Amino acid sequence: MCGIVGYTGKRPVVDILLDGLEQLEYRGYDSSGVALKCSESIKVYKAEGKLKNLREELAPHAYELTKSTSGIGHIRWATHGSPTVVNAHPHTCNCGNLVIVHNGIIENYKELRAELEAKGCKFKSQTDTETVAHLVASIYGEVRNLTKAVQLATKKLEGAYALCIMHNDEPGVIVATKRNAPLIIGVGENEFYIASDVPAFIKHTKKAIYLNDNQVATVTPDALKLEDENGMIISPKVEQLPWEPVALSKMGYKHFMLKEIHEQPDVIRNILVGKLHTSDTPIVLDEVKLTKQTLKDLNRIQIIACGTSLHAAMVGKYIIEGFCGIPVDVEASSEYIYRKTVTDAHTLVIGVSQSGETADTLTAIKQSKSRGSHILIITNRPDSAMAREADSLVPVSAGIEVSVAATKSYVAQLTSFYLLALYMAEVKGTMEQAELTALKAEMLILPQKIEQILAHKDEIQRCARKYSNTRDFIYIARGINYPTALEGALKLKEISYINATGYPAGELKHGPIAMLDETMPVLSILMKGSVYEKLLSNSEEAKARNARMVALTNSTDPKLDDLFDFIIRVPEVNELLSPIIAVIPLQLIAYYIAEFLGKDVDQPRNLAKSVTVE
Ligand code: AGP
Ligand code: GLU
Repeated sequence: MCGIVGYTGKRPVVDILLDGLEQLEYRGYDSSGVALKCSESIKVYKAEGKLKNLREELAPHAYELTKSTSGIGHIRWATHGSPTVVNAHPHTCNCGNLVIVHNGIIENYKELRAELEAKGCKFKSQTDTETVAHLVASIYGEVRNLTKAVQLATKKLEGAYALCIMHNDEPGVIVATKRNAPLIIGVGENEFYIASDVPAFIKHTKKAIYLNDNQVATVTPDALKLEDENGMIISPKVEQLPWEPVALSKMGYKHFMLKEIHEQPDVIRNILVGKLHTSDTPIVLDEVKLTKQTLKDLNRIQIIACGTSLHAAMVGKYIIEGFCGIPVDVEASSEYIYRKTVTDAHTLVIGVSQSGETADTLTAIKQSKSRGSHILIITNRPDSAMAREADSLVPVSAGIEVSVAATKSYVAQLTSFYLLALYMAEVKGTMEQAELTALKAEMLILPQKIEQILAHKDEIQRCARKYSNTRDFIYIARGINYPTALEGALKLKEISYINATGYPAGELKHGPIAMLDETMPVLSILMKGSVYEKLLSNSEEAKARNARMVALTNSTDPKLDDLFDFIIRVPEVNELLSPIIAVIPLQLIAYYIAEFLGKDVDQPRNLAKSVTVE
């Protein structure tokens, strides 16, 4: 969620901060700001909206600011107080000597604010963050050491935070610390970077230190000191990042989302390399660290995730239960955390997350881990906080996903779930060899099938145009494609702001059918297989209420021509693998509608890519 960038070194800091913040834009934000150490004092510049507004704010001061070589910057995703200039970070103490940027939420800020106001602190904003500025400054007044002041102040904070702090009296020093929010230090030659995520500094250095919760780093151009919250020295672990800066280019596509949709065939190919060689050799999944005996004895699985990852988890449940006969519960992480869940050492808990940083899922995972469950994480970020909690780590290797709306990471998660379910079925011996072989053979050709869909994207674009004037959109499906309906609707909602909903088609008649009339588009995900005929009947029911009917199908049944106003055809596919195929046109429909409506496709309003608050 939002982002922090800090730099201290020998080079002009302004462009490093702005460029770094730009690389974090994909995380979603509503305002921005920087604090720069200048010869006299620390100067703060802030702006509402996009970074270009901050650039404009800074432009008149460009010359004098080139001399500044240390500073901190922030893009804010407002949690407390509207996205105004006053609420934008950095925040300062009364005298302006101390500046701070913060990601996360300080849960006890009201109590702290009341105490600080009673001591004479004057608050300018409605944010929780400003409390930390005053708190650290008031302690600094006594201890006169920024690191020490931060250590003492953070002991009083409840909630989640990544913080970067500077003080006028300690030029070139940045103090950074975190709890339940990501913060990474990039190590250069006589310079250090601090950021919420690697893209902010990867073009400058590939050496990084991942801060752990409650660690406090103090950086100057020439040194880094790492301590725990009590001042005990910790020796930092410098890691070599396996990242390439080029990954963030749109490669000629109009939006990252469209580029990422087109990357999906290669994403699947990459995942299958080394894991699925041929249809008649066993799946290799060295990432699963459970012994074969434990896997055989497993009697329960819980999968926790949010948003799109939750939809992948729902498909995961369907196939793990179907292939392996193990009961699987799927739950939104935010719900899982707050009820008494029955989890123990005999339960496998699977966390699914593109970012690996989603606060709800991270908390849920930590809870289950403390109850002794084996934690298997399916994530696109093997360097994330969740990955660090994992007993088994299944990286989905989709490459960095920039668009806030998840597309390729979803297909990558699905592919990983298929590999996992087939692997478990092989170990447990729960599937017929012939069925296993057929599914594996078909998985190997899924990339070509997606390419066929992408080759006919003009037709999908035509469909999107036709329905782009709608205020509502209903997606219906049954069985394994019910999560596909949810995902299609989520994509449309996220980027076009159209009120889209996914329903299990059999539920339509229990209420939602009341909404149908000649203005309502209903898209039916009609994949051949066990529920095809039933779904056809549900589509007839919708047609009888004059709904505008759209089919997404792999059937050539002529009956469909009378029933549907628009038919999107996809290649033949085994029903059990069809979620990977069916979701592609739905991603494209959402994309083309949003693009046609002129929406900000890659950075939709109010959304953040990495949701690091609960
Ligand atoms: C997907 O398009 C959304 N932006 C969102 O629902 C996302 O899937 C969710 O926030 C979970 O994120 P994660 O996979 O990084 O945990
Ligand atoms: N809670 C803080 C605010 O609303 C920080 C939000 C963020 O993480 O961007 O200002």
